[in-house]
Amino acid sequence: HTKYVPFKPVAIANRTWPDQEITTAPIWSSVDLRDGNQALVEPMTVEQKKQFFALLVDVGFKEIEVGFPAASQLDFDFVRWLIEEDQVPDDVYIQVLTQARPELIARTYESLKGAKKAIVHVYNSTSKTQREQVFRLDKEGIKNIAVKGAQCVKEHAEKHPETEWVFQYSPESFTGTETDYAIEVVDAVADVWQPTANNKIIINLPATVEVATPNRFADQIEYFCRNVKQRDSMIISLHTHNDRGCGVAAAELGLMAGADRIEGTLLGNGERTGNMDIVTMAMNMYSHGVDPELMLGDMDRIISVVQACTLLQVHPRHPYAGELVFTAFSGSHQDAIKKCLANQTDDKPWDVAYLPIDPRDVGRSYQEVIRVNSQSGKGGVAYTLEQEYGLALPRWLQVEFSPIVQQFAEQEGGVVNAKSMRNLFESSFMTG
Ligand code: KIV
Ligand code: ZN
Repeated sequence: HTKYVPFKPVAIANRTWPDQEITTAPIWSSVDLRDGNQALVEPMTVEQKKQFFALLVDVGFKEIEVGFPAASQLDFDFVRWLIEEDQVPDDVYIQVLTQARPELIARTYESLKGAKKAIVHVYNSTSKTQREQVFRLDKEGIKNIAVKGAQCVKEHAEKHPETEWVFQYSPESFTGTETDYAIEVVDAVADVWQPTANNKIIINLPATVEVATPNRFADQIEYFCRNVKQRDSMIISLHTHNDRGCGVAAAELGLMAGADRIEGTLLGNGERTGNMDIVTMAMNMYSHGVDPELMLGDMDRIISVVQACTLLQVHPRHPYAGELVFTAFSGSHQDAIKKCLANQTDDKPWDVAYLPIDPRDVGRSYQEVIRVNSQSGKGGVAYTLEQEYGLALPRWLQVEFSPIVQQFAEQEGGVVNAKSMRNLFESSFMTG
């Protein structure tokens, strides 16, 4: 395994945004191995799940939803492997999903036999659409499913006091549910589970489908937190999807509106347009100088494991992670970056134009920042020759040389690498 460097946010210079939004890390829960997995064309094999689980532990997740063991034999076997082979660190909770149905809950507990710590995540859908068209039940009928599920979860747990249990309930399709009704259902579940401030339950509020702007979602969360009966005995969790492209924004605003915990996936795999991307949200915090309490310093390993397990490519412009996000092609950007990098030292707050964070913080290098193509100016050319070969061109020579590089780039297409640049320089100025 790669060694992880401590991942602490650096001070950021010249902040002009108002003080401050998110000030501490939420509790994170990865749902890569469940929600992420269920959305894949080819679901993960046990080997892929093992590899992904190891990554999640290394990144620092303390709560990991590992599957839906009552719905999948592969997930059941994976949970058994984790427990029997003692693969779960003492401070990590494995989380498993189950529908609120007695036979599925029984099977779920079977999979968890011998676990040290586990979160049993039970859900049923509460939205108007699903009540009327899928279940054909009224509000009372749907509430009963939740209450019976909660009772069943509690009874099984009481038979296995050797495990440290945490109960989690999701009113699935919360964003399509009347908020007062969702509160009524959650109050009824809490009456069964009887949480206390020292023994909290997790109430997970999913934007199963993202249907509104993030501020509306945040309003819903704030209203929920103010009106649910036993707020102080609950960890309020958010589980946003990305249907309108705002999964991260909704989670951020929801956190500011009073939530404590965020469920999502690394780089945003998940049903349809994906779950909210924990990498982006954590790095957004980091770029504001807030410690996300996840170690994302080896982004290349994260990408490589995620790609190997999901068989999905990471977009080159993916925030903080894509291979082009610390690259400037345009001459004016390159020039500004070059000037700022020359002033930047490790003891100073990060203050470089066009680069919201130091690329080294995610394991990338300065060399990648400047790449030269036909749109590049003299700054990028000079920077590359100096970095790669220690050739410091005087300004007049930069002015003469950069059109030669541009012409070469136009002829060849694409990026001019340092070696070609040096050859061009030698053939233009050092022969005859
Ligand atoms: O998106 C969703 O609502 C879910 C639930 C099962 C939490 O994945
Ligand atoms: Zn989901």
